[in-house]
Order: sequence, then structure tokens, then C-alpha cells
Amino acid sequence: MTVVIGHRASEDAVPVQGGKIRDEPTSPLIRYPGGKQKLLSSLLCYLGPAHTMCERFVEPFVGGGAVFFALNPKRALLADISKDLIDLYRGIRRAPSRVWQLYSTYEPTREAYYAARAKDRSCLSLEQRAALTLYLNRTCFRGMWRVNRAGRFNVAYGGEDRRWAISQTDMKEVAKRLHGAQLKCSDFETVIDTCNPGDFIFADPPYSPGELEPRRDHYIYSQFTFRDHKRLASALRRATKHSILWALTTSSHPSIVGLFEGSHVISFSKGTSRRLGILEADPGEVLICNYDPWEVQ
Ligand SMILES: C[S@@+](CC[C@H](N)C(=O)[O-])C[C@H]1O[C@@H](n2cnc3c(N)ncnc32)[C@H](O)[C@@H]1O
Repeated sequence: MTVVIGHRASEDAVPVQGGKIRDEPTSPLIRYPGGKQKLLSSLLCYLGPAHTMCERFVEPFVGGGAVFFALNPKRALLADISKDLIDLYRGIRRAPSRVWQLYSTYEPTREAYYAARAKDRSCLSLEQRAALTLYLNRTCFRGMWRVNRAGRFNVAYGGEDRRWAISQTDMKEVAKRLHGAQLKCSDFETVIDTCNPGDFIFADPPYSPGELEPRRDHYIYSQFTFRDHKRLASALRRATKHSILWALTTSSHPSIVGLFEGSHVISFSKGTSRRLGILEADPGEVLICNYDPWEVQ
């Protein structure tokens, strides 16, 4: 195998050499299992310089968008297979104050949570759906994002602890940052296949430890199988052929890393992948890219 193993990013690495972030980084509004917020300082060292060489930032698995909100690119394409998530961003971008007002009216109790969870979304406006999604995300158990076969959110009540960790000002800032972004509900393959030279793709798919290990299904929107990882590797190979720069965070399991032969592989000294919300010393998580991250710095 010709995978190159890079050195570890320092834990207190400085984000983006050369200071190319346009404004102060802003935090995601939503809680996301596997979100990249806690790895940002390491990640941005490797992504920042490549991103600044490109005209558009593309995130095919946007989730909480930690990297997008930190880099604050002028132009972006943000996509995810979850319609509720994309509608949340669309609603906030269109009417942040209205979404905040609706979000604030939800009661903090367990009963109110389950009543909100059972609501029929089909008769709600975009802003009402956005407020509901945000409320469920910020009061559900550990910010899990899971729906049943019928597509209904089914995570249990988790309490109010994280509800007011965000403010109306945060929401307005998020809306501002979303203005230069195209938002798309789509499978990742279509998104990657429509990219052009000048795009920089950052992909953070759901990941399981390896081909044969059990998955930790934090999402279960659609299960991301080993076949999907192979599909992703093929799509990124096609992107490389079109001279598109990309970086991917994924499992360090040899069966996954082996799909990206010839790419640069960087292991993190800490990561988020084993247990929800906890940084671990051996995360089983790597960054893979099709450019030499030390050369573009
Ligand atoms: C690890 S999360 C992304 C976390 C994000 N980077 C963050 O910092 O919050 C993975 C995302 O992939 C989405 N997803 C799962 N299968 C997908 C598919 N086939 N195509 C596009 N998105 C998918 C999930 O809905 C989830 O939002």
C-alpha cells in the first residue's frame, strides 16, 4: 500500500497558518455526534491553506458544519442527505429572528418535548420547521440525530442543559455566514460529481470502525455502509482526476484507509469517534487528503 502516514498535528496547533479566516470563527448552532468542533485547531492547519487556494468550499456531509462556520468561506455548497437539517439552515438564513422567536416559545419540559417530537411537520412553515428541529436537537439526548424507518425523529428527551448555550446573536451570525452558501439536500455522490476545478471538498461522512465491525448508529437516517465508503472513495478518485482538491475525515481502520491508496493520511493525537462527545487519546480517526498538506502551507 502506498498510503503516506503523516506526522501528528500538535494539540495546540495554530488554526490556519497565514491568518486567512475572514472573521472570528463562529460555533455551530446545532449539536452533532461526530461534529468536528473539538478537532478544529488541528483540522484547520491542514484544510485552511488548501481552502484558500480555491474559489468554492464544498461540504457534502455538512451536519453541524463546524469546519464551514470556522472557515467562513465567501462561496460554498453545503449538502446533506437529511432534509430536516438542510431546511433548518434554509429557515435560519431566511428569517433568523423569526426562527429564534419560535424556538424561544417551546416549553422546557419532558411532556412538551415529546409533544413537539410528535408534531406533523407537513403543515408547518419553513421557519416553524427550523425552530422545531433546533429545539429537538438542543433538548434531545446528547444531540443524537436519529430517525425511524418512517423518517420521524425518535431520540429521547435529554434535558434543558444545552438549550440556551446559543443566543439570538449566534443565530444572526450563522444566517450571515450562510448567505454565500448554496444549500442542497442530496446524496454525496451527486454533489462530488458536479464539482469543478477550483472547488475544495471537505468530506466528513458517518464512520464505523471498519468493514466488519458493528456500526455506532448515531444518525440512522440512512445507514452508511462499507459500500457507501467505497462509493465515496470512487467519487473522490474521480474528483482527483479533474484536479479538484479534497480532504476527508474517516475511520483509521485499514479496510477504510486502504480505499484511499496513494493519498496522504494524517492521524490525530485526539479525536471524537469512539464515545459521544468525548475526546479520546486513540480516536481511530484520520484525515486523508489528495494534496500534500505540508507543501500547501
Ligand atoms: C459526521 S456527520 C457530519 C458532521 C459535521 N462535519 C460536523 O462538524 O458537525 C455526517 C453527516 O452525513 C450525513 N449523511 C449520511 N449519509 C449521507 C449520504 N449518503 N449523503 C450525504 N450526506 C449523508 C448525515 O446526515 C450527517 O449529517
